[in-house]
Amino acid sequence: MDNRHYFVAFLAVLGMLAFFALITMPFWIPVLLFNSPFLLVVFLLAKYTRFGGILEKWYLTVYDWLVYQSETPRRLLWQGFYEFMSWYNQDTDWVTMNYGYALLTDDGHMIDKLLTEEQDKHECFSLQLYYFITGTNKAFKSLEGKTLVEIGSGRGGGISFLTRVFKPEKAIGIDFSMNQVEFCKARHSSVNQLEFHQGDAESFTTIESIGENSVDAIINVESSHCYGNIDNFFKQVNNALKKDGVFCYTDFRGAEDMDELKAKVEEYFVVEKSIDITRNVCYALKLDTQRRLAVIEEKCPKIFVPLINKFSGVTGSRVYEELNEGQTLYHAWLLKPKGRNANEEVKE
Ligand SMILES: C[S@@+](CC[C@H](N)C(=O)[O-])C[C@H]1O[C@@H](n2cnc3c(N)ncnc32)[C@H](O)[C@@H]1O
Repeated sequence: MDNRHYFVAFLAVLGMLAFFALITMPFWIPVLLFNSPFLLVVFLLAKYTRFGGILEKWYLTVYDWLVYQSETPRRLLWQGFYEFMSWYNQDTDWVTMNYGYALLTDDGHMIDKLLTEEQDKHECFSLQLYYFITGTNKAFKSLEGKTLVEIGSGRGGGISFLTRVFKPEKAIGIDFSMNQVEFCKARHSSVNQLEFHQGDAESFTTIESIGENSVDAIINVESSHCYGNIDNFFKQVNNALKKDGVFCYTDFRGAEDMDELKAKVEEYFVVEKSIDITRNVCYALKLDTQRRLAVIEEKCPKIFVPLINKFSGVTGSRVYEELNEGQTLYHAWLLKPKGRNANEEVKE
């Protein structure tokens, strides 16, 4: 099944659940009413006693498993989330979706001269994250005439920015959300070398314009936490990269999972640089909080604002607090492929 089928299956299950809830209404509404004193007691216990802490712990355990650790449920949840977001919001003045990177200076800025479009300036911290993982890298300075691919390109702002700055001969953004791909094709059509395709990080080399040993640089920004199986993704990157290609990779994980991710990265790639950027990401979120709150307020359905705030990383959100306290870590790598000509080095 490809991703669109997963998404349709997800919608079908939701539809069936809604239908079931509807036809069983005569049953569950009285049950709910009958149980409401009980529910009220549970609510009061949760709010005013230690029982609340236990309930919250259970809730967070289930939530983290579903959103960050499970295989198929995680894929389906993120896929549904991003499809919905891009279907609902087609506004062209929102083109990046990462937590950003700031220098630890007063204003945190580092690339003002490169931000030539008005929208670049609004989303400067998110673009700085792209620049940080690529701009200090020799391979990008000489990307002219070469191929650049982003896996998990989202609303396309990052790869559009890098394409305008580094001028590769061809740049390809890949995302599993069809709505986002359609959005990007329209939004970034003025950047000639740039194209977008729907595809899955775990099987993107099946896309026609990306063969084995065909890509000079691959980037992946804050997307891999959504993948069901990271090994599949790393194998695909190794296959797609030319022998002297580079892979610029950045994402977050819970502190207890980061060591496992680092070990996996080392298993599949030659590590040129490996940097903890948690403080820079956290500072970018702090500097960007007011703008993010205003964007969420303007662009998201009211009912989803609390949920979106949770993921947006604004100060006070769980994401922000966990980064600030080091319970979540954000890491960046500069990597080279290994194993294609030395299969024994790559786990099969
Ligand atoms: C947090 S957004 C980051 C987008 C973009 N890199 C940026 O920084 O603006 C994560 C993106 O990864 C995409 N994604 C998640 N799982 C994917 C998968 N298995 N294959 C391809 N894209 C995926 C989502 O659709 C979403 O656009």
